[in-house]
Amino acid sequence: MPTLPPKPPGWVLETAHTAYALGLTANGLLLNRFWGARLPLRTDYPPPAEYPNFASFTAAAHLSPEEFPAYAGASYVEPCLKLLLPDGVRDAVLKFEKADLRDGDTYLIIHLRDAFYPVSVALHYRAHHDADLIERWAVVTNAGPLPLTVERLFSAQVHPPLGEPYRLTHVAGKWSAEFQLERETLTHGVKVLESRRLTTSHHHNPWFMLDRGSADEEQGEVWFGALAWSGNWKLTAETTDFFGTRISLGLNDWDFAYVLNAGESLSAPRTFFGYTKSGFGAASRILHGYIRKRVLPHREQLHKVLYNSWEATTFNVSERAQMKIAKVAASLGCELFVVDDGWFHKRKNDTAGLGDWWADAKKFPNGLGPLVAGVNQLGMEFGIWVEPEMVNANSDLYRAHPDWVFHFPNRKRTEMRNQMILNLARADVREYLYGKLYALLSDHNIAFVKWDMNRNISEPGWPDAPGDARELWVRYVEGLYELWGRLRDSHPQVIFQSCSGGGGRVDMGILQYADQVWVSDNTDAPSRLSIQEGFSYAYPASIMEAWVTDAGFNTIPLEFRLHVAMAGALGIGGDLLKWDNEDRALAAKWIAYYKQIRPVVQGGDLYRLHRLDGGMFNALQYMLPDRSEGVLFGFRMFAPQFLPYTTNTVLLPTLHLRGLDSTASYQIEGIEAVRSGAAWMEDGLRLSLPNFGSTVRRIRRI
Ligand code: DGJ
Repeated sequence: MPTLPPKPPGWVLETAHTAYALGLTANGLLLNRFWGARLPLRTDYPPPAEYPNFASFTAAAHLSPEEFPAYAGASYVEPCLKLLLPDGVRDAVLKFEKADLRDGDTYLIIHLRDAFYPVSVALHYRAHHDADLIERWAVVTNAGPLPLTVERLFSAQVHPPLGEPYRLTHVAGKWSAEFQLERETLTHGVKVLESRRLTTSHHHNPWFMLDRGSADEEQGEVWFGALAWSGNWKLTAETTDFFGTRISLGLNDWDFAYVLNAGESLSAPRTFFGYTKSGFGAASRILHGYIRKRVLPHREQLHKVLYNSWEATTFNVSERAQMKIAKVAASLGCELFVVDDGWFHKRKNDTAGLGDWWADAKKFPNGLGPLVAGVNQLGMEFGIWVEPEMVNANSDLYRAHPDWVFHFPNRKRTEMRNQMILNLARADVREYLYGKLYALLSDHNIAFVKWDMNRNISEPGWPDAPGDARELWVRYVEGLYELWGRLRDSHPQVIFQSCSGGGGRVDMGILQYADQVWVSDNTDAPSRLSIQEGFSYAYPASIMEAWVTDAGFNTIPLEFRLHVAMAGALGIGGDLLKWDNEDRALAAKWIAYYKQIRPVVQGGDLYRLHRLDGGMFNALQYMLPDRSEGVLFGFRMFAPQFLPYTTNTVLLPTLHLRGLDSTASYQIEGIEAVRSGAAWMEDGLRLSLPNFGSTVRRIRRI
């Protein structure tokens, strides 16, 4: 009797609504089998489809949706791994060795091994059932006695179904104009999004969404993913000539090399992938939920209304001046007072002081203690600004350790904002910073730290590097995480905020350490609307700190500016001493109101009801997951007279609320009618707003 050959193994990871299947072909290729909606039966998922060679020019490995293609053989697609082996061979032939399924089949590890050399790769997959996300990362290990070099290591490659011209959604921007949403159809070739700047960057952000060109906020298939890494990263979106689209995410191979000595490993950062049929809005809510519930150090803890004195006083920080503002901030209802740049040794302007993290003796003759106590007596918590990774040439630290910054011998050290970057890959640098910051946090009642980073790298040299200096791209970020992690462990109650000249370091990696981010140095409310909208695609409102400053003081109504900031974690940043009683009363009123809606804004589901998208009207809604309560925000920008929108009555677009219980009754603040959830969602409502008019209304189930 002929026996059938054994079936090659395959694996299925399922979440509440999605599935991800992979398996081996008879020839041993590890291929993706499926990424989409969860199917009723495990046997429903297709077998891996290995494509035959195409003429003598294109091999199966190039055509087939490999889970983790390495640079080897006749394949020219973007590889996830590129090795330089000890004898100079640059071909990584990965063969399946074994698979481990753990934690009730939710955690899969596929072990691959080179066909000849003692190199192994472990592909990690974790299914987050309730969160509807698949987590992936990869670890490469040198199991041999001789050193080898990793020239590229991505975390994962993923494949939406074959054969579509996909549309890529992502954000682009620059300092003061971060998170601008972009959508483009992918055509043949490779679209690269990346950072070469040592940190995440203002320019792109490590996430993507793919759709078939017709998804919107409410409906349509969307495949999406994000990378948890705060250093040089790379996303490649490749559309092959054979109708395959593949997205890879991981460490940037720009100027990169990482030597693995005997027994050493290198791990690529974590990635998270999801799928939904319910459009971009649902994709965002999946990411928001996971970040809030599983990533942030303080999880869903609500954020205080803070006051930050940077735009009011810049570097002119002193106990007396800060206390004067603090009194007004407290009277408005602020709960946390943050002293920004300018408080430390010899910091008069941006030319001196960075690195010397103790209070300036002239500005604070009795140290920071009296200011902290004064702020606490006003009923507010105290927060402080630091920029630990930086040093000015004019500082005690640099004078003592000029070798601690990134530099090349015989090259000028480029200064940006008069500062250089300390090499956090060095243990002695981290030890110094830990000592100074530990003392700052231990000696004062500090509840909040704003951790800033105001330049990107230049001359990425590390003259005393123990191995290849190009390892710095990874080792710096690992050093940053280690330092930040130690401080978090020693002071677990402190809330950290990640800032990098605004939104230059926002990613799922830093959010393991920072509960909040400063989204942009641009505090002009109309500009802020589009920044906040782009930000909201991947990141939740709870982490989005937003200040009301004096930008637009004479042109944009204060109420509009307050409402824009209330759509995130509200903060105030204007020069309160210049605000008249009317402004202060208005701010106090809306701060009190914000405290009531805070659980909904910071913990609710976001629905982008009407995207700004370069237009003149923007509306969004937050809704508690139990559908009992929501908040509606509406903003009208300036609309010129000749457009019909300028009549203040009915011509703004109809808003169809979302996330309500169709059969329950709801009332919207300011509207008398009580209507069913279905009516508010299907028939909707129209707002009437003047130019630069805005509204915030509670939605209540009754
Ligand atoms: C850049 C930040 O984004 C600002 O908010 C402020 O903290 C300055 N740095 C201080 O130097």
